[in-house]
Amino acid sequence: MALNRPVLRVAAVGDLHCGKDSQGALQPLFARIAEAADVLVLCGDLTDYGLPEEAKILVRELAGTVKIPIIGVFGNHDYESGHADEVKAILGDGGVRILDGDFVEIGGVGFAGVKGFAGGFGDRALQSWGEPILKAFVREAVEEALKLEAALARIQVPRRVAVLHYSPIRGTVDPEPPEVIPFLGSSRLEEPINRYGAFAAVHGHAHHGVMEGRTSTGVPVYNVALPLLRARLGGRPPFRVLEIPIIQEAAEPAAAIA
Ligand SMILES: [Fe+2]
Ligand SMILES: [Fe+2]
Repeated sequence: MALNRPVLRVAAVGDLHCGKDSQGALQPLFARIAEAADVLVLCGDLTDYGLPEEAKILVRELAGTVKIPIIGVFGNHDYESGHADEVKAILGDGGVRILDGDFVEIGGVGFAGVKGFAGGFGDRALQSWGEPILKAFVREAVEEALKLEAALARIQVPRRVAVLHYSPIRGTVDPEPPEVIPFLGSSRLEEPINRYGAFAAVHGHAHHGVMEGRTSTGVPVYNVALPLLRARLGGRPPFRVLEIPIIQEAAEPAAAIA
């Protein structure tokens, strides 16, 4: 993808929770995004109950307003009704590429996406010990982190962005009630983000967290849950735009420039 500007503008928002009554409700947001960005990233909970008809409404809301590439990850709500594969297919047909341990490169930036999972943060993170069902819970977080690492590793361009639903750090979920914090993310997701020196990570899920934090190595983390942005951005449109400086490839083939 050839760009005339030295930055890629990435709009990020999560937790659209598109429901059966969302017809017409999201179009104004998408229209503002289309004016402001080169890429749209959706950070999970795209639908409210993971229903195919909700996905069809979301696709209709996007159609006609958003012509830029759209990528995203699922959130827990997108799995609620057991139709995740059908929802993914409907969104795919509508131009929304759902990442699940894979990546896409757009305009010199690589986006690695996973849903992520829960388990908590730091020294108090849930460990794989005891009952089999508890080990299975921890295994889900470990596997999501491994998928994220594999996707980040395969990106060939210099800039990497991690796209998540669950948070990789406590910093962007902290104002939430302490009882729910372990269910809002996992430190296991932070490790690959640091190891591969990601430019940034974006996530949702923590509707009552804070908008920005950093990993232990300083990678910016943005909580872009729509309810949070609506509450914190005042009258401004509820999405974030990351301006990512493009590092030009030294020997770009002439055919790609033409
Ligand atoms: Fe949500
Ligand atoms: Fe969620």
